[in-house]
Amino acid sequence: MKILFIGDVAGSPGRDMVQAYLPELKVKYRPDMTIINGENAAAGKGITQKIYKQFLQWGAHVITMGNHTWDKKEIFEFIDEAKNMIRPANFPEGTPGKGITFVNINGTEVAVVNAQGRTFLPAIDDPFRKMDELIEIARKRTNIIFVDFHAEATSEKQAMGWYLDGRVSAVVGTHTHTQTADERILPSGTAFITDVGMTGPYDAILGMEKEAVMKKFLTSLPVRFEIDKNGRNQLNGIIVDIDKQTGKASVIERIMINDDHPFDSL
Ligand SMILES: [Fe+2]
Ligand SMILES: [Fe+2]
Repeated sequence: MKILFIGDVAGSPGRDMVQAYLPELKVKYRPDMTIINGENAAAGKGITQKIYKQFLQWGAHVITMGNHTWDKKEIFEFIDEAKNMIRPANFPEGTPGKGITFVNINGTEVAVVNAQGRTFLPAIDDPFRKMDELIEIARKRTNIIFVDFHAEATSEKQAMGWYLDGRVSAVVGTHTHTQTADERILPSGTAFITDVGMTGPYDAILGMEKEAVMKKFLTSLPVRFEIDKNGRNQLNGIIVDIDKQTGKASVIERIMINDDHPFDSL
């Protein structure tokens, strides 16, 4: 079972990159399933129903979210019906939406879970104990469990990787928008990367106009961050190969597409 995961899609530049490269990635890697983190898909903040549907139309099976889940107010109107969208499972009890979903891929069930860290992010429920609960639920249906752990601190993400090693197929970090080069298969068979990186503006700071971000650091004045639409774009992702029976991963490969790392060099 090959799963392609695309990191935080930011604004229209990110969406354009998905539309442009997803067909080519499908030809090259032949993934059985595609997951996209869409927490920044609408102008950098949140997601709309239109964009959610567009991602599914382009071939995504599941959309994961993060700390920007609620940024677009219309989310409250469609999240409960969006069966292929998940938001962090450890949001407080009673929050709209869900944190786990099951997808049937040619007769094989795959569980996808989204969780969020608590270090340098809002105080929410414990993601580690929430994962214990969800793994118990998921294991009754499948051994293939894919986790998007949306967190800021590298230590918290690595702790989650080791905590879940051998109990899930993959733990991939999102949120920092910067790809890490530490992809590996942990000793008990869990594919891990601290951060997948982001998809969108490349000549920018985490996808945002760099002038505004620099001004913020230089002056500490309030600054409005906008998606950078003036420079080149990038796509970051990973591909994981998982044994259908055992749920253990055998391969994790990083995907980085930008002008310095062109698609042809993959
Ligand atoms: Fe993000
Ligand atoms: Fe985030």
